[in-house]
Order: sequence, then C-alpha cells, then structure tokens
Amino acid sequence: MDRYAVIGQPISHSKSPSIHALFAQQTGQDLGYEAIEVAPASLAAELQRLHGEGLRGSNVTLPHKQAVAKLCESVSDRAQLAGAVNTLVRTDSGWTGDNTDGEGFVTDLARLGITLTGRRVLVLGAGGATRGILAPILEARPAQLVVSNRNPWKPEELAELFKPVGVVTPRTHLALKGDRYDVVINATSAGHTGGLPLLPGRLIADGGDCYDLSYGDASVPFRQWARSQGASHIEDGLGMLVEQAASSFAIWRGVRPETAPVLKELRRLMRGHGECEAVGTHQPVRRSHVELPPQD
Ligand SMILES: NC(=O)c1ccc[n+]([C@@H]2O[C@H](COP(=O)([O-])OP(=O)(O)OC[C@H]3O[C@@H](n4cnc5c(N)ncnc54)[C@H](OP(=O)(O)O)[C@@H]3O)[C@@H](O)[C@H]2O)c1
Repeated sequence: MDRYAVIGQPISHSKSPSIHALFAQQTGQDLGYEAIEVAPASLAAELQRLHGEGLRGSNVTLPHKQAVAKLCESVSDRAQLAGAVNTLVRTDSGWTGDNTDGEGFVTDLARLGITLTGRRVLVLGAGGATRGILAPILEARPAQLVVSNRNPWKPEELAELFKPVGVVTPRTHLALKGDRYDVVINATSAGHTGGLPLLPGRLIADGGDCYDLSYGDASVPFRQWARSQGASHIEDGLGMLVEQAASSFAIWRGVRPETAPVLKELRRLMRGHGECEAVGTHQPVRRSHVELPPQD
C-alpha cells in the first residue's frame, strides 16, 4: 500500500488524515496516510528517514514550510516564488516540493463568492501561509494589497520577493490606523493561542469580507473581532484546507476528488467533537460540555 503523511509540530490535531482517508474512499484508492510529529531540529534527518522507508509523498505544515523548501532537490515555480512547500513528492533520490495553499485559497474564495479584483485587500501575518497565497491574490488584480505583521521586516521582505508579480505594501498592524479594506484575511497563527494581533478599529469597509485561514476553535478570536467590526461576511479556512489537500491528492494520485462532500463531512465530524462552528455569518457555537481537542 502506498504511504503518505503530514509532518509538522504540533500534529496530533491535524485533519489531513481524515481528509485524505475520505478522498481515498471516494476515489477507490488504496493508500495509507498518517500524521507524523517532526521537531524543527530533526527535520532533515526525518525527511531522509521517511524517504528511506518508501513514503510516496507528504504534506508539510507549520512550522516547516519554509525550511522544507530548502531541503528539496527541486521545487515547482509557485513553491519557489513562495519560498514555502506544503506538498512533497518522492523522487528516486529525494523530494520535489510544491505549494498548493494558493490554489486551495482561491478555489475556496470562488466557492464562497468572495472577489479580490479591484478591491482593497489586507493580509494579516507574513508567515508560510501568506507566502503561499500572495501570488494568486496579486494575479486577481486587487486595487491594493497590504500585508501587515507584528515583526515589521517580514512584510518588507515579502514586498521585495513578490515585486515580479505585483505591488505588496508592507505595514505593521498599528500603522494600519485610518485605513479601510474590502477584504481582510487573517493569516496569523495567533488564534491557536486564543489571540489576535493588536489592530486599530474600523479597518473593514462597508460590505467588507473577512476570511480566516484558521478554522475550528483557532478561528474564534478573528471571527469575534470581525463581527465586532461589522463585517458582513465572515468565513473560516476549513474549505481552503480541503481544497489544498485535494490539489495535493491530485498531484500524488492523478485524480482530483470532489471536495464538497468531504467539507460537509469534516464539519459534521468537528461538530460531533464539540469544535467551534465558524462558517457563514452565524455565531460560532462552543459546546463546552465536550472536551475540546487541541487545534492547529
Ligand atoms: N486553511 C488552510 O488550508 C491553511 C493553510 C496554511 C495555514 N493555515 C493557517 O494559517 C495560519 C498561519 O500559518 P503559517 O504557516 O503562516 O504560520 P507561520 O509561518 O508560523 O506564521 C505565523 C504568523 O502569525 C503571526 N503571529 C503568530 N502569533 C501572533 C500573535 N500572537 N500576534 C500577532 N501575530 C502573530 C506571526 O507573526 P510574527 O512574524 O510577528 O511572529 C506570523 O506572521 C495558521 O493558523 C495555520 O493553521 C491554514
């Protein structure tokens, strides 16, 4: 049986094994998929070990996306531009890297009817996920694209890196004061610790859309902020997670699974586990009588 995995730290919470099991079932493929905890210090050795064991491919999650890009023997153009890899494909002598985050993000926005063309777009955070989504955002030709971050040098680096694709304006969060945006995208990992970057008020324009790359309990702080700021449309990143996984699956297996039934099943499973529901414009629901699993 062909073996696949997702590597990251922490990883026990990962939804990728469930998603790929559903894809395999739907497409009639016989494969195994497991979550493997890998510490940053042992990343290179683990990649070598997994190759030696015959692993066919792997997803890569936080905090390894940028480090893995440097350990691949080759990377796709989009992974090269992002400087981040979320999909590994086995070669005879090592790993080739790709990045399906951007594809997953734009496919989900299209599903949700959120447009970027001609709109003022703000991305909060400048980590591996932001690197993956910036090119497709720029390709959609927004009126303006601002990236703000806690550490100011990271958006500046991204502005330089993405110059060949378009203009990215770097900011700190506090320097956003007085700005208005039509689309606000949270690509920070602050929600995993129950937080949110410190942001000035009134950032969201009338009719503005908010999209959080996080999902489950980690999406609650941004969702609550977006509601308090009057956002008319708030979505979480579960759809993106399923779409980027479908793109990885298609790279590995040559067939793209249907994502809608998998997303529906995943939301059902999450509700069953008492995880927060943060979809559409409804209030998130916390079922506090159920012990909550850790989030990514
Ligand atoms: N839905 C999906 O398919 C999908 C795909 C990829 C990622 N994600 C999610 O996207 C998020 C970011 O992932 P990543 O890979 O980009 O992580 P990362 O590379 O570790 O970057 C984390 C980012 O969050 C910022 N941050 C962390 N804690 C913060 C805090 N307390 N206040 C303000 N900023 C904070 C960091 O700012 P500094 O640079 O200042 O530290 C950095 O910009 C995670 O929640 C991840 O689960 C979802």
